[in-house]
Amino acid sequence: MRSLLGVLEVLNGLTYTAESAHRVFVARALKIEVRELKPQLLADYLTFFDKAFSDFPEWAECYCGFYDTPGTDWDASPESGPEHRAARSELIRNGKAHGLLAYIDGKPVGWCNAQPRASFVNMRSYRVAVTDPEEPVGSIMCFLVSPEHRSKGVSTTLLNVACDMFKRDGLQIAEGYPTTNPTKGSGGLPWAEANYKGPLNLFLKNGFRIHKQLERFAIVRRQL
Ligand SMILES: CC(C)(COP(=O)(O)OP(=O)(O)OC[C@H]1O[C@@H](n2cnc3c(N)ncnc32)[C@H](O)[C@@H]1OP(=O)(O)O)[C@@H](O)C(=O)NCCC(=O)NCCS
Repeated sequence: MRSLLGVLEVLNGLTYTAESAHRVFVARALKIEVRELKPQLLADYLTFFDKAFSDFPEWAECYCGFYDTPGTDWDASPESGPEHRAARSELIRNGKAHGLLAYIDGKPVGWCNAQPRASFVNMRSYRVAVTDPEEPVGSIMCFLVSPEHRSKGVSTTLLNVACDMFKRDGLQIAEGYPTTNPTKGSGGLPWAEANYKGPLNLFLKNGFRIHKQLERFAIVRRQL
């Protein structure tokens, strides 16, 4: 259905634009720009996360800090939102939060938590993927796209730019963790939320192969 015409330009290091079009449903090409998270993008990050859970407020508190918070606890109550927002802001201000923001018409519409696997503070249950800590692996931990911009190729663009970023940084393997058994993982969630790690098909269509199948998710890999 979709033709990703490719990464067309490299601007300011890791600012990319890609042209994406649904051949059938959307007449005009959609320009998706991807920027690497830096302290100066903090306001965009917050603007995006403040609204991106409009269809699923149950997760609105997260601010994608789950994998960069030490310990085993995580307060997922709605009241914890301001606390997680403040903690995440502090990390971003200090250049300690990593990932990619996607923009359409200058507005942030998508996020991919992508960084060297070794730099995650807390991989939680995905730590099982780390059989050799020395492997030069970049991890694609999760995605979030604004509800009104889903199914337009935003995650596809983010995934491919993440791979380019990993390669630029000397990593040799890109790794993702798509849920493959929702009843054991995200049972009862709507499709979009059950696939917050990125749908398996997204990875398979973009050069990833199943490296290891676990009970509720697969470890998928692409050589860079
Ligand atoms: C899952 C999600 C990331 C997909 O992002 P997206 O930008 O819509 O994905 P894309 O348009 O790039 O599509 C990529 C692939 O995913 C699959 N896909 C996308 N939307 C789909 C849908 N509604 N049904 C089935 N498959 C779908 C397809 O395989 C698609 O590839 P194709 O179009 O070539 O067939 C998005 O739905 C989302 O943000 N969900 C919420 C995630 C969330 O809650 N994150 C926060 C965690 S705290």
